[in-house]
Amino acid sequence: MDFWYRIRFPLMAVGMLALFAGMLAGLLRFGWNLPSPSQDLPSLHGPLMVSGFLGAVIGIERAVALGRPWGYAAPLFAALGVLALLSGANTAGVMMVLLSSAIISAVYAVILRRQFEMFNLTMTLGAIAWLIGNVAWLKGYPVYGFVLWWCGFLILTIVGERLELSRFAEPPRLARQIFAASLGILLAGLVWSSFVPDKGIKVMGIGMVAIALWLARYDIARRTVLQQGLTKFVAVSLLLGYFWLGFGGIMLFLQTGWMPGNGYDAILHMTFLGFAFSMIFGHAPIIFPAVLRVTVPYRPAFYLHLALLHISVALRVAADIIPLDGIRMWGGLLNALALAAFLVNTGISVRKGLGGKDA
Ligand code: HEM
Repeated sequence: MDFWYRIRFPLMAVGMLALFAGMLAGLLRFGWNLPSPSQDLPSLHGPLMVSGFLGAVIGIERAVALGRPWGYAAPLFAALGVLALLSGANTAGVMMVLLSSAIISAVYAVILRRQFEMFNLTMTLGAIAWLIGNVAWLKGYPVYGFVLWWCGFLILTIVGERLELSRFAEPPRLARQIFAASLGILLAGLVWSSFVPDKGIKVMGIGMVAIALWLARYDIARRTVLQQGLTKFVAVSLLLGYFWLGFGGIMLFLQTGWMPGNGYDAILHMTFLGFAFSMIFGHAPIIFPAVLRVTVPYRPAFYLHLALLHISVALRVAADIIPLDGIRMWGGLLNALALAAFLVNTGISVRKGLGGKDA
């Protein structure tokens, strides 16, 4: 087996380490009485989840798509960044992650040159959004000052991937123009929010709603949800994700000011958990075989982690809005259990897949 295939496993393992450490950090931030390996860990929650876990996983996926060894430098630096952050070398960690986002932007630029399509442009803009967020992080801004750029990174990356798949359904010209306009609104809001947060977040919120409505209307998921088995599961995951992206956009539009607090918590986790992780749950059985060459046979039990994710996000968001701090804490714990259930359920399927191969 070639080196570039084998290297994906340690990179993925460090991504997983970031996910576990990020989950622990999130629970500590809620005040759950859990052992913490370091005092800094709670403050690393956002960076470990976004730049550590998702940075590494998206980096591996893109390196596979690029098909050139240098593409692996992006997930490699994200992984080194995770290890540096966890060992207390914060500045080195931020620099590694920054380098990772610069390399992945270059990877996307090469892919864009090969094939100048809206979906590649959208993903390239996503990588640049991550890069901008990381520059602000290195400059010492607090996370809330640039976290919307990280949201932009995930929204644009995921939307670009969906667009790539939906292009087979060939949306009409007007639909493509509406998409370009929605993207423009989102980006304008993102840039504006960095200078005038009160007004910029409203524009970004409108962009999120517009993109969610576009996806709900034009993504093939609307049709494939009527099928059975894995196809239906993927479509249900996607449509639920679009709901949270739209709801998050509405809350961002209604939000006054952009500071940590209940609205902040709800909007970020509707985007990261309700939208991004729902997409990950839906795509895992397709991406895993492509990236790690292991099969993840579909089982109806997948609906367990999907339901737990969405119920727990709904609980957390409701508790943020009412507000009910005790319930919010439980919502957070159930979020973490949903992610753990996803990993266990996927692991069981991989084992079944391996068993099937042996037979
Ligand atoms: C596993 C369950 C999770 C728990 C228990 C959790 C918990 C928390 C808490 C308590 C906060 C502080 C909110 C505030 O200050 O108002 C927070 C912020 C944040 N979370 Fe999560 N979270 C989880 C999942 C995620 C995921 C999956 C991501 C991203 C992929 C994420 C990214 C962030 C970011 C970027 C912040 C802002 C950090 C900051 O301002 O320093 N979280 N989270």
